[in-house]
Amino acid sequence: MKIGILGVGHIGKTLAQRLAQARHSVKVANSRGPDTIAPDVLAYGAHAVTTEEALAEVDAVILSIPLGRIADVAPLIARLSDETVVIDTSNYYPFRDDKIEAIEAGQVESLWVAEQLGRPIAKAWNAIGSVSLAHKAAPAGTASRIAIPVAADRENDREVALALVNDSGFDGFDAGSLADSWHQQPGAPAYCTDLTREEMGPALIAAEKARLPKRRDLGVAVMQERLGDGTTNPDADWGVRLVRAINM
Ligand SMILES: NC(=O)c1ccc[n+]([C@@H]2O[C@H](COP(=O)([O-])OP(=O)(O)OC[C@H]3O[C@@H](n4cnc5c(N)ncnc54)[C@H](OP(=O)(O)O)[C@@H]3O)[C@@H](O)[C@H]2O)c1
Repeated sequence: MKIGILGVGHIGKTLAQRLAQARHSVKVANSRGPDTIAPDVLAYGAHAVTTEEALAEVDAVILSIPLGRIADVAPLIARLSDETVVIDTSNYYPFRDDKIEAIEAGQVESLWVAEQLGRPIAKAWNAIGSVSLAHKAAPAGTASRIAIPVAADRENDREVALALVNDSGFDGFDAGSLADSWHQQPGAPAYCTDLTREEMGPALIAAEKARLPKRRDLGVAVMQERLGDGTTNPDADWGVRLVRAINM
């Protein structure tokens, strides 16, 4: 597939590497220009381009930017054809994204993103920590392969996102509609807890919506206390142990 990725931070960098390794044609961009993209992002054949170029003539777009920056890219996304599959990896963290009243009032994060963009999206890769994404990929069929939930409203969006999750080294797990995607938001048992396909279904069902924000914020508070800020990502085992203790 021809894929454009906006955002080459913790998550976007690994997706650029993996999807290029899987022989997709990958273009990547950030807001500061192609010259600022580190060479390791491009190690497997992805090309650094401008944001406009990243979205030109692609089958799928992956947004891997902070949720609070979604509005910045909305005008560019509005130019895409209706058939283009837009997959968003974002999560709402008030300390980073500033308070978004609609989400604070209970709007499902992916529905808020779809509303900002004025189009359907798929939600994927939001519920795996960046270190697990980078280091815990496994070939399809591996018994302990980690599953990643995928939510979408359109069948093609769902199928493409599930296939690309598989190509990134993880089992894509159909988690239903965008309206249901709060089951994979921060604070949920399925969020960043590195579960297998068998474990993922029950974990999604076990989510309790009213508890998610408190559990999300507890996780951030512990990470800030132990790591010094809210942007350093913990090593995978420590991070997964912490989030399992709080969310499951
Ligand atoms: N970190 C995790 O473990 C994790 C796990 C799952 C999901 N997520 C979610 O995935 C998203 C990305 O997370 P991350 O940790 O990868 O973030 P990050 O490391 O801060 O990287 C964000 C990337 O987005 C780019 N960016 C920001 N605004 C942009 C714009 N307007 N146009 C184009 N590029 C832009 C940044 O580059 P410039 O600033 O140079 O433009 C940077 O490359 C977030 O919503 C996050 O909540 C994160």
